Amino acid sequence: MIPSHITPYTPASLRASLRTILVGRRIELHPQVGSTNDLAREAARQGEPEGLVIIAEEQLTGRGRLGRTWVAPPGCCVLCSVLLRPRFSPQQAFYLTIAASLAIYRSTLALFTNAPSLAGKPSVAIKWPNDLLVHGRKVAGILSESEFSADNWDFAVAGFGINANLDPKDLDGLASPATSLSAELQAPVDRALLLARVLSELESLYFSLQTGQFGPVHAEWAAALETLGRRVTVNDGHAAIAGQALRVDPDGALVLRDDSGHERRVLAGDVAPQP
Ligand code: BTN
Repeated sequence: MIPSHITPYTPASLRASLRTILVGRRIELHPQVGSTNDLAREAARQGEPEGLVIIAEEQLTGRGRLGRTWVAPPGCCVLCSVLLRPRFSPQQAFYLTIAASLAIYRSTLALFTNAPSLAGKPSVAIKWPNDLLVHGRKVAGILSESEFSADNWDFAVAGFGINANLDPKDLDGLASPATSLSAELQAPVDRALLLARVLSELESLYFSLQTGQFGPVHAEWAAALETLGRRVTVNDGHAAIAGQALRVDPDGALVLRDDSGHERRVLAGDVAPQP
Protein backbone atom coordinates (compact mmCIF):
# COMPACT_ATOMS: atom_id res chain seq x y z
CA MET A 1 0.00 0.00 0.00
CA ILE A 2 1.26 3.45 -0.91
CA PRO A 3 0.82 5.90 2.00
CA SER A 4 -1.99 8.37 1.20
CA HIS A 5 0.14 11.50 1.80
CA ILE A 6 2.59 10.54 -0.97
CA THR A 7 1.80 11.52 -4.57
CA PRO A 8 2.48 8.56 -6.83
CA TYR A 9 4.65 9.48 -9.75
CA THR A 10 3.77 8.44 -13.26
CA PRO A 11 5.71 7.88 -16.49
CA ALA A 12 3.97 11.06 -17.76
CA SER A 13 5.13 13.20 -14.81
CA LEU A 14 8.62 11.82 -15.23
CA ARG A 15 8.64 12.33 -18.98
CA ALA A 16 7.46 15.94 -18.54
CA SER A 17 10.72 16.74 -16.71
CA LEU A 18 13.04 14.45 -18.64
CA ARG A 19 15.47 16.05 -21.11
CA THR A 20 17.35 12.97 -22.31
CA ILE A 21 17.78 11.37 -25.70
CA LEU A 22 18.66 7.81 -24.68
CA VAL A 23 17.93 7.12 -21.02
CA GLY A 24 14.16 6.86 -20.58
CA ARG A 25 13.60 6.02 -24.26
CA ARG A 26 11.05 3.63 -22.77
CA ILE A 27 9.81 3.85 -19.17
CA GLU A 28 8.00 1.16 -17.20
CA LEU A 29 6.47 1.98 -13.82
CA HIS A 30 5.29 -0.97 -11.74
CA PRO A 31 3.32 -0.82 -8.47
CA GLN A 32 5.09 -3.92 -7.18
CA VAL A 33 7.94 -6.08 -8.49
CA GLY A 34 10.48 -8.54 -7.16
CA SER A 35 13.49 -6.43 -8.12
CA THR A 36 13.69 -3.74 -10.83
CA ASN A 37 17.20 -5.01 -11.66
CA ASP A 38 15.75 -8.46 -12.41
CA LEU A 39 13.08 -7.00 -14.74
CA ALA A 40 15.69 -4.93 -16.58
CA ARG A 41 17.93 -7.98 -16.96
CA GLU A 42 15.07 -10.08 -18.36
CA ALA A 43 14.23 -7.32 -20.87
CA ALA A 44 17.90 -7.13 -21.89
CA ARG A 45 18.04 -10.88 -22.48
CA GLN A 46 14.96 -10.51 -24.73
CA GLY A 47 16.85 -7.96 -26.86
CA GLU A 48 15.53 -4.68 -25.44
CA PRO A 49 17.66 -1.73 -26.66
CA GLU A 50 19.55 0.37 -24.12
CA GLY A 51 17.83 3.26 -22.39
CA LEU A 52 14.96 1.30 -20.81
CA VAL A 53 14.08 2.64 -17.35
CA ILE A 54 12.22 0.40 -14.91
CA ILE A 55 10.75 1.98 -11.80
CA ALA A 56 8.78 0.39 -8.98
CA GLU A 57 6.80 1.71 -6.05
CA GLU A 58 7.60 -1.44 -4.09
CA GLN A 59 10.11 -4.28 -4.33
CA LEU A 60 9.51 -7.63 -2.66
CA THR A 61 13.04 -8.93 -3.21
CA GLY A 62 15.07 -5.73 -3.59
CA ARG A 63 18.78 -6.51 -3.62
CA GLY A 64 21.75 -4.56 -2.33
CA ARG A 65 25.51 -4.94 -2.68
CA LEU A 66 27.37 -7.90 -1.23
CA GLY A 67 24.29 -10.16 -1.30
CA ARG A 68 22.23 -8.00 1.05
CA THR A 69 18.54 -7.17 0.79
CA TRP A 70 17.48 -3.58 0.09
CA VAL A 71 14.72 -2.38 2.38
CA ALA A 72 12.41 0.39 1.14
CA PRO A 73 8.90 1.08 2.43
CA PRO A 74 6.42 1.16 -0.49
CA GLY A 75 5.51 4.35 -2.32
CA CYS A 76 8.04 6.79 -0.95
CA CYS A 77 11.42 5.95 -2.45
CA VAL A 78 12.98 5.97 -5.89
CA LEU A 79 13.61 2.37 -6.94
CA CYS A 80 14.97 2.34 -10.45
CA SER A 81 17.04 0.32 -12.92
CA VAL A 82 18.47 1.55 -16.22
CA LEU A 83 19.45 -0.82 -19.01
CA LEU A 84 22.67 0.14 -20.84
CA ARG A 85 24.79 -1.51 -23.50
CA PRO A 86 28.28 -0.02 -23.05
CA ARG A 87 30.88 -0.09 -25.82
CA PHE A 88 33.91 0.66 -23.63
CA SER A 89 36.13 -2.08 -22.24
CA PRO A 90 34.48 -4.46 -19.76
CA GLN A 91 37.60 -3.88 -17.66
CA GLN A 92 36.17 -0.43 -17.00
CA ALA A 93 32.83 -1.85 -15.77
CA PHE A 94 33.30 -0.18 -12.41
CA TYR A 95 32.81 3.19 -14.13
CA LEU A 96 29.09 2.49 -14.47
CA THR A 97 28.81 2.38 -10.71
CA ILE A 98 30.89 5.55 -10.47
CA ALA A 99 28.61 7.25 -13.02
CA ALA A 100 25.45 6.23 -11.16
CA SER A 101 26.78 7.42 -7.80
CA LEU A 102 27.93 10.72 -9.33
CA ALA A 103 24.53 11.22 -11.00
CA ILE A 104 22.79 10.85 -7.63
CA TYR A 105 25.47 12.96 -5.93
CA ARG A 106 25.05 15.85 -8.39
CA SER A 107 21.24 15.68 -8.16
CA THR A 108 21.24 15.58 -4.36
CA LEU A 109 23.69 18.47 -4.15
CA ALA A 110 21.40 20.51 -6.43
CA LEU A 111 18.38 19.71 -4.21
CA PHE A 112 20.15 20.95 -1.10
CA THR A 113 21.76 23.95 -2.76
CA ASN A 114 18.35 25.09 -4.04
CA ALA A 115 16.59 24.60 -0.69
CA PRO A 116 16.08 28.15 0.67
CA SER A 117 15.15 26.90 4.16
CA LEU A 118 18.57 25.37 4.81
CA ALA A 119 21.45 27.51 5.97
CA GLY A 120 25.08 26.54 5.40
CA LYS A 121 26.87 24.18 3.07
CA PRO A 122 25.10 20.84 2.68
CA SER A 123 27.14 17.82 3.65
CA VAL A 124 26.65 15.52 0.66
CA ALA A 125 29.34 12.93 -0.07
CA ILE A 126 30.00 9.50 -1.51
CA LYS A 127 31.24 6.75 0.77
CA TRP A 128 33.54 4.47 -1.19
CA PRO A 129 32.61 2.85 -3.40
CA ASN A 130 29.11 4.22 -4.05
CA ASP A 131 26.91 4.97 -1.04
CA LEU A 132 25.44 8.45 -1.10
CA LEU A 133 25.59 10.11 2.32
CA VAL A 134 23.87 13.22 3.59
CA HIS A 135 25.19 14.47 6.93
CA GLY A 136 27.04 11.17 7.29
CA ARG A 137 23.99 8.94 6.85
CA LYS A 138 23.11 6.81 3.84
CA VAL A 139 20.33 8.08 1.54
CA ALA A 140 21.02 6.04 -1.58
CA GLY A 141 22.75 2.89 -2.79
CA ILE A 142 23.69 1.49 -6.18
CA LEU A 143 23.75 -2.02 -7.54
CA SER A 144 25.26 -2.35 -11.01
CA GLU A 145 25.04 -5.76 -12.61
CA SER A 146 26.44 -6.83 -15.99
CA GLU A 147 26.52 -9.77 -18.35
CA PHE A 148 29.34 -10.43 -20.82
CA SER A 149 29.93 -12.77 -23.78
CA ALA A 150 33.58 -13.54 -24.37
CA ASP A 151 35.30 -10.18 -23.95
CA ASN A 152 32.31 -7.96 -24.72
CA TRP A 153 29.36 -6.56 -22.83
CA ASP A 154 25.95 -8.04 -23.46
CA PHE A 155 24.43 -5.40 -21.22
CA ALA A 156 24.64 -3.62 -17.91
CA VAL A 157 21.93 -2.69 -15.44
CA ALA A 158 22.51 0.33 -13.24
CA GLY A 159 20.10 -0.04 -10.31
CA PHE A 160 19.67 2.50 -7.57
CA GLY A 161 17.49 3.11 -4.56
CA ILE A 162 17.04 6.59 -3.08
CA ASN A 163 15.33 7.18 0.27
CA ALA A 164 13.22 10.12 -0.88
CA ASN A 165 10.19 10.70 1.36
CA LEU A 166 10.31 8.68 4.51
CA ASP A 167 10.74 8.86 8.21
CA PRO A 168 14.19 7.49 9.08
CA LYS A 169 12.49 5.57 11.92
CA ASP A 170 11.07 3.33 9.16
CA LEU A 171 14.68 2.31 8.46
CA ASP A 172 15.62 1.46 12.05
CA GLY A 173 17.60 -1.73 12.44
CA LEU A 174 19.75 -1.33 9.33
CA ALA A 175 23.45 -2.16 9.70
CA SER A 176 24.60 1.36 8.85
CA PRO A 177 22.89 4.63 9.80
CA ALA A 178 20.39 5.75 7.16
CA THR A 179 18.25 8.80 6.56
CA SER A 180 16.05 10.23 3.80
CA LEU A 181 16.16 13.33 1.63
CA SER A 182 12.86 14.61 3.06
CA ALA A 183 14.11 14.25 6.63
CA GLU A 184 17.33 16.13 5.86
CA LEU A 185 15.59 18.79 3.75
CA GLN A 186 12.67 19.07 6.17
CA ALA A 187 10.38 19.05 3.14
CA PRO A 188 8.90 16.45 0.79
CA VAL A 189 10.79 15.64 -2.39
CA ASP A 190 9.18 15.58 -5.84
CA ARG A 191 10.31 12.14 -6.96
CA ALA A 192 9.57 12.75 -10.66
CA LEU A 193 11.78 15.85 -10.69
CA LEU A 194 14.50 14.13 -8.70
CA LEU A 195 14.52 11.03 -10.88
CA ALA A 196 14.46 13.10 -14.09
CA ARG A 197 17.55 14.96 -12.87
CA VAL A 198 19.34 11.72 -11.89
CA LEU A 199 18.59 10.16 -15.28
CA SER A 200 19.85 13.15 -17.22
CA GLU A 201 23.05 13.32 -15.14
CA LEU A 202 23.48 9.58 -15.68
CA GLU A 203 23.04 9.96 -19.41
CA SER A 204 25.58 12.76 -19.59
CA LEU A 205 28.14 10.75 -17.57
CA TYR A 206 27.43 7.63 -19.65
CA PHE A 207 28.07 9.55 -22.87
CA SER A 208 31.40 10.71 -21.39
CA LEU A 209 32.35 7.09 -20.72
CA GLN A 210 31.20 5.96 -24.17
CA THR A 211 33.55 8.55 -25.68
CA GLY A 212 36.50 7.47 -23.52
CA GLN A 213 36.51 10.37 -21.05
CA PHE A 214 37.28 8.34 -17.94
CA GLY A 215 39.73 10.79 -16.33
CA PRO A 216 37.30 13.65 -15.56
CA VAL A 217 34.63 11.21 -14.31
CA HIS A 218 37.16 9.53 -12.01
CA ALA A 219 38.43 12.89 -10.75
CA GLU A 220 34.93 14.15 -9.90
CA TRP A 221 34.12 10.89 -8.11
CA ALA A 222 37.39 10.93 -6.13
CA ALA A 223 36.76 14.54 -5.08
CA ALA A 224 33.29 13.60 -3.78
CA LEU A 225 34.56 10.67 -1.66
CA GLU A 226 34.39 11.33 2.06
CA THR A 227 36.55 8.26 2.64
CA LEU A 228 39.91 9.59 1.45
CA GLY A 229 42.32 10.88 4.08
CA ARG A 230 40.52 9.08 6.89
CA ARG A 231 41.46 6.12 9.07
CA VAL A 232 39.01 3.39 8.11
CA THR A 233 38.35 -0.31 8.37
CA VAL A 234 37.37 -2.07 5.15
CA ASN A 235 35.69 -5.44 5.28
CA ASP A 236 36.06 -7.15 1.91
CA GLY A 237 33.96 -10.16 2.91
CA HIS A 238 36.99 -12.19 4.00
CA ALA A 239 38.91 -9.96 6.36
CA ALA A 240 38.91 -6.51 7.88
CA ILE A 241 41.79 -4.24 6.86
CA ALA A 242 42.47 -1.14 8.92
CA GLY A 243 44.48 1.79 7.67
CA GLN A 244 44.65 5.27 6.24
CA ALA A 245 42.62 5.70 3.01
CA LEU A 246 45.19 7.18 0.61
CA ARG A 247 43.62 7.31 -2.85
CA VAL A 248 41.46 5.53 -5.42
CA ASP A 249 43.22 3.89 -8.34
CA PRO A 250 41.94 4.33 -11.94
CA ASP A 251 40.13 0.96 -11.67
CA GLY A 252 38.20 2.22 -8.61
CA ALA A 253 40.21 0.26 -6.02
CA LEU A 254 40.64 1.92 -2.65
CA VAL A 255 44.28 2.07 -1.56
CA LEU A 256 44.96 1.95 2.18
CA ARG A 257 48.21 2.25 4.11
CA ASP A 258 47.86 -0.47 6.73
CA ASP A 259 49.29 -0.30 10.22
CA SER A 260 52.55 -1.96 9.15
CA GLY A 261 53.04 0.76 6.51
CA HIS A 262 52.14 -1.40 3.46
CA GLU A 263 49.80 -0.21 0.72
CA ARG A 264 46.76 -2.49 0.32
CA ARG A 265 44.31 -2.34 -2.58
CA VAL A 266 40.66 -3.21 -1.99
CA LEU A 267 38.29 -3.68 -4.95
CA ALA A 268 35.01 -4.26 -3.07
CA GLY A 269 33.93 -4.03 0.50
CA ASP A 270 32.33 -2.05 3.25
CA VAL A 271 34.06 0.94 4.77
CA ALA A 272 33.59 2.01 8.37
CA PRO A 273 35.30 5.07 9.85
CA GLN A 274 37.67 4.49 12.76
CA PRO A 275 37.20 6.65 15.80
C1 BTN B 1 23.34 -1.03 -1.81
O1 BTN B 1 23.62 0.03 -1.27
O2 BTN B 1 23.59 -2.11 -1.24
C2 BTN B 1 22.74 -1.03 -3.18
C3 BTN B 1 21.25 -0.95 -3.15
C4 BTN B 1 20.61 -0.92 -4.52
C5 BTN B 1 19.10 -0.97 -4.45
C6 BTN B 1 18.45 -0.76 -5.78
S1 BTN B 1 16.73 -0.45 -5.63
C7 BTN B 1 16.51 -0.62 -7.36
C8 BTN B 1 17.42 -1.74 -7.81
N1 BTN B 1 16.75 -3.02 -7.69
C9 BTN B 1 17.30 -3.80 -6.76
O3 BTN B 1 16.90 -4.95 -6.45
N2 BTN B 1 18.34 -3.19 -6.22
C10 BTN B 1 18.57 -1.89 -6.79
